[in-house]
Amino acid sequence: SKKLSTTCLGHPIIYLEKTKSTNLVAKKKANEGAPEGTLVLSEEQSSGRGRLNRFFLSPYAKGLWFSLVLRPTFLPMEVSKITLLAAVAVTKVLRKYKVECGIKWPNDILVNGRKLVGILTELNASMEKINYLIMGIGINTGITQKNLPDELKDTVTSLAMEHVRFKRNKLLCDVLVQLERYYFLAEKVGFDPILDEWKTLSCTLGEEVEVIMPDRTFSGTAINIDHDGNLIVQTSYGLERVLAGDVRVRNV
Ligand code: BTN
Repeated sequence: SKKLSTTCLGHPIIYLEKTKSTNLVAKKKANEGAPEGTLVLSEEQSSGRGRLNRFFLSPYAKGLWFSLVLRPTFLPMEVSKITLLAAVAVTKVLRKYKVECGIKWPNDILVNGRKLVGILTELNASMEKINYLIMGIGINTGITQKNLPDELKDTVTSLAMEHVRFKRNKLLCDVLVQLERYYFLAEKVGFDPILDEWKTLSCTLGEEVEVIMPDRTFSGTAINIDHDGNLIVQTSYGLERVLAGDVRVRNV
């Protein structure tokens, strides 16, 4: 088997056969004082969760479902940028595997409009300081059409469905190495170079999008992300700034 060459991420590893959600386990471990870099990995999640409280399908051994405990020194307001960082790191690895994927703002990784990877970061912080952050990542590796319920058949893909050759352990190592590289870079020089890279890997910028907020919906062209990682949308009446928290963005 392959040795993990990170110094922080993936030390220690908590391996589970089945759990509700690795984010929940990681949160519990973090509350109990687990060190930064602690990785919780499960073969199966019975109630994997996505952004906006959505269900995330996580069948046994058909993906990499894992969560990392991070204790960054960034300000709480920078957390959305850590999520973009994760999307950049995973996309870079997948492109090395020749997967033609792109990032849908803020942090889904898609192939031909279908979701291959989901990322959910959850924050425990006061106004001035991050206590810990849980970075949960789900990569669909072995899912096939027959694993998918009807409502996901047109919107989900996997490495197997994209005919990509990979070894799951090696892929996990590669992802952890890239995540650590970008994470250390952000701590050293800030997020600017990572946001620039996000733009080059995005499949949202330049596209017509529909933004669905709790109280209203509007459409326009996604033209950029700002310094804080918010999406800037050009509409017929002017620019709109979209914060990740409570919206869905749909390419139209
Ligand atoms: C999304 O699609 O909105 C994000 C999905 C995040 C899924 C991962 S799988 C590991 C971790 N545990 C969870 O319950 N969710 C994340």
